[in-house]
Amino acid sequence: MRKLILQQIAASEAQREALEAEGLLVEDLEGPDRRYFSAVDEEGRTVGYSGLEHCDEKNALLRSVVILPGFRSQGLGRQLVELTLAEVHPSADVYLATTSAADFFESIGFALIRRDAAPKAILSTRQLSGLCPASAKIMKLSRPQT
Ligand SMILES: CC(C)(COP(=O)(O)OP(=O)(O)OC[C@H]1O[C@@H](n2cnc3c(N)ncnc32)[C@H](O)[C@@H]1OP(=O)(O)O)[C@@H](O)C(=O)NCCC(=O)NCCS
Repeated sequence: MRKLILQQIAASEAQREALEAEGLLVEDLEGPDRRYFSAVDEEGRTVGYSGLEHCDEKNALLRSVVILPGFRSQGLGRQLVELTLAEVHPSADVYLATTSAADFFESIGFALIRRDAAPKAILSTRQLSGLCPASAKIMKLSRPQT
């Protein structure tokens, strides 16, 4: 499998286009406490993007995860998510909202939670407080006990 390198980027037009093509949110790309990454393969090709919204010191939102269509189903999505999660402090909890890829995230270690079980810092993000449809599923990363 290709080995990916994660590079921190400023929100970019190419990233915006990749997200828009999948119907993912771009309205709230700009804003404080967000970090974005591109995933680059060994040949220097960008294969996807991801992002983190650091909501407070204890809670982060994984967001804007996309693998470009030509690179899917090769394990790169999982690798991209794992590399992105490694950027979060191990003591922080990681959440996400998804309408279409809950099974994918479940296979990586996220579990569905009830909306009212999510902390206020997560519920008050623009994604959760308005932009995401109410039908979006909220998931939390279950980290192995250390
Ligand atoms: C979701 C996405 C990032 C997965 O990327 P990928 O490179 O195809 O994923 P992987 O090859 O690492 O697949 C990992 C596993 O998840 C499964 N999977 C992939 N996409 C899935 C999806 N949309 N729904 C459910 N399962 C999915 C694969 O079958 C694979 O399972 P396996 O390892 O047991 O065979 C990619 O399909 C994508 O960019 N989709 C559009 C954007 C999107 O939905 N992003 C998530 C927004 S919250």
